Amino acid sequence: MVKQQLVAPQAVNFACDRFRSLFPALTEEPGFIFFDNGAGAQIPQGVFDAINGHLLHRNVQRGGRYARSMEVDATIARARESVAALINARDCDEIAFGMNATSFLRLLSLAIGRTLETRNEIVVTDLDHEANIATWLQLEREGARIVWWNMREDNNLHVEDLAPLLTSKTRLVACTVASHALGSIVDVAVVAKLAHAVGAEVVLDCVHYAPHALIDVQAFECDYLVCSGYKVFGPHMGFMWGRLELLNVLQTFREDFIPDAPPSKIEAGTFIYENVAGMAAAITYLETLGAGHGGEEENTAPVSRRASLVRAMTSIREYEATLSFEMLEALQAAGAIIYGVDDTARLAERVPTFCFTLPNIAPELVTETMSDRGIGIRDGHMYAPRLMKRLGASLDTGVNRASLVHYNTVQEIHEFGKVLGDIVRGR
Ligand SMILES: Cc1ncc(COP(=O)(O)O)c(C=O)c1O
Repeated sequence: MVKQQLVAPQAVNFACDRFRSLFPALTEEPGFIFFDNGAGAQIPQGVFDAINGHLLHRNVQRGGRYARSMEVDATIARARESVAALINARDCDEIAFGMNATSFLRLLSLAIGRTLETRNEIVVTDLDHEANIATWLQLEREGARIVWWNMREDNNLHVEDLAPLLTSKTRLVACTVASHALGSIVDVAVVAKLAHAVGAEVVLDCVHYAPHALIDVQAFECDYLVCSGYKVFGPHMGFMWGRLELLNVLQTFREDFIPDAPPSKIEAGTFIYENVAGMAAAITYLETLGAGHGGEEENTAPVSRRASLVRAMTSIREYEATLSFEMLEALQAAGAIIYGVDDTARLAERVPTFCFTLPNIAPELVTETMSDRGIGIRDGHMYAPRLMKRLGASLDTGVNRASLVHYNTVQEIHEFGKVLGDIVRGR
């Protein structure tokens, strides 16, 4: 995954304006530059229509014998098929819907915590979002021993450092696919190979990676994966994937009348069906992007939904490398301290999410000035206090983060660079 060859930035041809025009929040305020996508992306009109349509016409409980209720069942079933296509799941029953990624990680840790015996070691990283750390640390009460896979001085996780941490006692490795703070990508297929070699399982946090590149649970060879809809052009909801044979034996909470089979055993209670309908529409948007972005094959219909999604995410990834290139140039020109991969020759190792500080200028001041000039970025600890400590940043002030997705443009980056320069010069 990390080794994917990217096209030279200047050679990329991406119909950004066409896709951008589908997002009302971007077109209604064309002067505003939205670089806070890591906290949640905007939604295309089709997602709103799907949520709206569900609430207006199908706002009933599923599982009834009347038409509207059966339509809800059908909506959920179709959404499972859509997510299965997005992540390359073998079976729709491997996908569960719910509130968010954090609650799925907690569900997993509670279930896995019940099975800790002599194999009780859990590997976590200091690069991850706290959601994928704190829940595992809780298991110390159940006898877990936490093993830290730490970043090196270059602020990257190196898979070579993982191997010596793994033993016959390792129960699982919990790590991110891409850092929500630094933008760096972890070679999770190698993580899974190493973990499986000692009989351990792998839980992946795919929240930040999802809008940027192709998810493939089969190629990742992971065991569980969590994701949030609102980071991938959908509404606030989450989904989880697990390997079917593992889900079958996972000890989750469920009432007696709920079948002890996935996905029911993972989906406690009622979830937000309209947001599930919205998530399916977000995937339809990506398929449309893929279908309209086939390069030489532009007008040929892709053979499958997955093929459209592969095309979409490949073209997004290539285009976003251009954005990363331009962002690095802008940040470097302003003398910013960039945390994480800062070499334009290593764009394949990152997504366009940038954690930075300006020397001797408070992150808060940078964010406020950017806001005054019509640019939305973020400052703070990025819900990663341990990472902040490693970066030498104070928890109170934190760092700045600019996080871009495929509807952002090079022109926006140039404007961002101009404002950054003004801040440095004190104007
Ligand atoms: C990498 C990462 N993991 C987990 C989360 C938590 O996701 P959720 O809000 O869906 O619980 C976030 C949210 O920002 C995130 O960026």
